[in-house]
Amino acid sequence: MGMLNMEHHWLPFTNNRLFREEPQIFARAEGVRYWTPEGQELLDASSGLFCCAAGHGRREIADAIHKQVLELDYTTHFQRAAPISFELAERLSGLLPEGLDRIFFGSSGSEAVDSAMKICLAYHRARGQGQRTRFVSRSWAYHGVNVGGTSLAGMVNNRRDFSGVTSDVVHMRHTWTEEQRFSRGEPETGVELAEDLEDICKTYGAETIAGVFVEPIAGSIGTVVPPKGYLKRLREIADKYGLLLIFDEVITGFGRTGSAFASQEFGVTPDIVTMAKALTNGTVPMSAVAVRTRIQKTIIDAAEGDRPEFFHGYTYSAHPVACAAALASLNIYRDEGLFERVKDFSPTFLDAVFGLRNLPHVADLRGYGMLAGIQLTPGEKPGLKGSIAQRLLFKEGLHIKATGDALIFAPSFTTTEDELAQMTDILRRVLVRGDL
Ligand SMILES: Cc1ncc(COP(=O)(O)O)c(C=O)c1O
Repeated sequence: MGMLNMEHHWLPFTNNRLFREEPQIFARAEGVRYWTPEGQELLDASSGLFCCAAGHGRREIADAIHKQVLELDYTTHFQRAAPISFELAERLSGLLPEGLDRIFFGSSGSEAVDSAMKICLAYHRARGQGQRTRFVSRSWAYHGVNVGGTSLAGMVNNRRDFSGVTSDVVHMRHTWTEEQRFSRGEPETGVELAEDLEDICKTYGAETIAGVFVEPIAGSIGTVVPPKGYLKRLREIADKYGLLLIFDEVITGFGRTGSAFASQEFGVTPDIVTMAKALTNGTVPMSAVAVRTRIQKTIIDAAEGDRPEFFHGYTYSAHPVACAAALASLNIYRDEGLFERVKDFSPTFLDAVFGLRNLPHVADLRGYGMLAGIQLTPGEKPGLKGSIAQRLLFKEGLHIKATGDALIFAPSFTTTEDELAQMTDILRRVLVRGDL
């Protein structure tokens, strides 16, 4: 690495000691490839971190960012605005399910989640149900790392040490069951797990619960696809008890499932959708919360005088440069038909993934659209094998996200059949190794 001083940057979600011993550094990216400073080429099997849906180094986005910085680099959106944010909000509402057409912007998935929680609380308060302060989430869930998202976390490591700031959240069971092992697409079994929501409503009193957060496909834990009928049943129960249903589509949004949003793919319309990552193809941090018209109206109508209706927002809400990056990304998705490409390519992708079934270290495979989880057989300690596999794969030329002992395979939508085969060849070489 030459002269790079790595003492000062505290890396997130990283074992910093191990990293310094064995740095994994990217200096350049293009298409579905990264290069290290030494020039080693790696295939990107996780779209960066599920962000770069149209591949790396897209000139159209770079040009839009450059132009926007020179035209209007920054404005606050507290009592001010820029034309481009209205344009983006309108574009997004056209992509979202009917009725989800009020858009609040932030800079990260975590901010979107915390904003969504506050919107739920503000909504219930505005309609005289301010006692609804509790949330329901799910075991194994990942909703970012801000205070609200940490409370919702169902991946316990992300919550355990931070109880001083977390709020009142009740967790449903996750939806993976033994009989689902190696099921492709939506599992046939497990719909009854949605009844956990009804049990929680009865146990805690539905009148104390503001909303229920779920990832339509639980991404970060290693791709857990919802059982057939499960999301629909959550919708029914949420309606029955007056809870808001929030789909956290930070990973599934923007085509990953083959539809613009997973809610459309699974035919279930939530009250609120959170999104980030591929919104700007990963180029500039940006997130959004889409809210049903009536939810925003309720909050706005309840406010008095000329004070803000919703006391919440970020310096970088609707940042003009992020808006430009998002619009350019949405243009690429539209012009290259990339969501349709996911639908067409998904069978080939899932064939390649399920072709890994008989490898000795593979315990389970799950997948939908162009999102898959490769669950490794347990190692000496939870997470150890995933960590070793991730490093061996890096050496062999594959960047892939590992969470615990699961690898999350989510390449860019532009990945060719040949590139996919190169990725699975590397997986095949590593997932048979005795030193794993
Ligand atoms: C479902 C979900 N919600 C929220 C987040 C947090 O997003 P960010 O890391 O941009 O804060 C993630 C990140 O992976 C996610 O997968």
